[in-house]
Amino acid sequence: MKLESRALQVLERIGIRRGQTVLNFGCGSGTYSIPAAKIVGEQGRVYALDKDKEASDELMQKAESTGLRNIERMETSRKLEIELTDESVDVVLLFDVFHSYYFSQASDRRRLLGEIYRIMKPSALMSVWPKHMKSETEDEIKNANFHLGEELSEMLIHEDRDLEKGKILNFRKGSRNKEEQ
Ligand SMILES: C[S@@+](CC[C@H](N)C(=O)[O-])C[C@H]1O[C@@H](n2cnc3c(N)ncnc32)[C@H](O)[C@@H]1O
Repeated sequence: MKLESRALQVLERIGIRRGQTVLNFGCGSGTYSIPAAKIVGEQGRVYALDKDKEASDELMQKAESTGLRNIERMETSRKLEIELTDESVDVVLLFDVFHSYYFSQASDRRRLLGEIYRIMKPSALMSVWPKHMKSETEDEIKNANFHLGEELSEMLIHEDRDLEKGKILNFRKGSRNKEEQ
């Protein structure tokens, strides 16, 4: 199966839908941003954010050659601030990025989670591929006022080329108890 159709299937299973606004944090060169843009369509938008300029240049070239106009490249900030307004995003993708190689300090991980929480709509989801992530980091996400909704087992694309089995964790805002009340 072509890698792009695999990525499309994964993103549809996660719950990305037409018309939605997606932030792909640490997007790389387009493995998931291009299929996400195809799913959300012209009425939707994919914000693609990566500190690696070469990777995001490559992504924008792919978007142009595919005729996709709904991907917007975002600048990164050293302070880990995300330049999006409060409660404006339906889905945040955190694939193979939320781990100690990129975020060695717990304080940076907390700051990023706080920013993601701020920009997520109340009903939004944050979808994490916890590749290289330690179990404490999963606890950090829960401590940042998210709860684990679904857990999906999928074949995922690593480093733009290899397929490997992995799990996806879909988190929602708030503690589970609050949602059930
Ligand atoms: C292993 S790659 C994963 C790429 C993509 N999410 C995927 O699954 O195909 C991690 C990416 O996160 C980016 N990244 C790491 N820390 C970042 C930060 N603080 N801000 C923005 N991008 C970051 C890296 O530049 C790299 O492109």
